[in-house]
Amino acid sequence: MTGPSALSVRGLSVRYGSATVVSGVDLEVPPGEVVALLGRNGSGKSTVLRAVAGLIRPAAGSVAVAGLDVTGRPAHEVARCGVGLVPERGGTFSGLTVLEHLRLASLRAAPGAGERIAEALEDFPVLSVAGARPARALSGGERRMLALAAAFVRGPGVMLLDEPSLGLAPRAAAALDRAVARLTERGIAIVVVEQHVRLALALAGRAYLLRRGRTVLEAPAAELLADPRLVEAYLGAPDPALAAAAPRG
Ligand SMILES: Nc1ncnc2c1ncn2[C@@H]1O[C@H](COP(=O)(O)OP(=O)(O)OP(=O)(O)O)[C@@H](O)[C@H]1O
Ligand SMILES: [Mg+2]
Repeated sequence: MTGPSALSVRGLSVRYGSATVVSGVDLEVPPGEVVALLGRNGSGKSTVLRAVAGLIRPAAGSVAVAGLDVTGRPAHEVARCGVGLVPERGGTFSGLTVLEHLRLASLRAAPGAGERIAEALEDFPVLSVAGARPARALSGGERRMLALAAAFVRGPGVMLLDEPSLGLAPRAAAALDRAVARLTERGIAIVVVEQHVRLALALAGRAYLLRRGRTVLEAPAAELLADPRLVEAYLGAPDPALAAAAPRG
């Protein structure tokens, strides 16, 4: 690998009060790569993303963006360093229209925002059709696409996607696939958290498995796709989609 990682997380620990919910997590994401962060409910996935984005101050460890140490900096500064978080919930303003969201995102964006608005509308035609509608008149899935599109328009070097497929119909999930592919073509590094393990592994080059806030496995996504029972073994409970794909024997 040449040059610094787009995102480098070392020994990240996060506490809520006296409870340590993330412990010693490392992540390395080169430019243009997708890394999947997998784990059961409550394993700490969203907490890792929130700590990387500066929404929570880590108890220990470091976060570097393109070689720049941003550990402990507030969220708006981390965002200015090129980190875009698309959270599990929210990320849109109910009274603003789709196009207003994208224009607002372009105001404090890296150069080329106009082009990115056009690309986002091309990737998610449903947003193009709904351009004049306020976010409150969108479906949950459409609002998730809008949050992703707005984050992309800002021109980040790293995108943190928390359950992007949540509430998306299969067709919209396919659009998500294409959108992620286009993000990586532009050199954007992506960390994707997904309940839908197969979808995440199909998007990702590498995967990290979290269990109770600790990394229990780091492996190439292709290896985990080829042997879904490995994921099951590490995560401790079957994923229905994986069980369906696992060879019987
Ligand atoms: N603000 C908070 N205060 C206290 N505990 C919290 C807070 N947010 C999360 N937790 C706890 O931290 C742990 C990790 O939560 P987190 O949301 O990171 O899990 P997750 O892997 O994203 O789960 P899910 O798949 O359900 O989204 C959980 O036990 C959760 O209850
Ligand atoms: Mg979560």
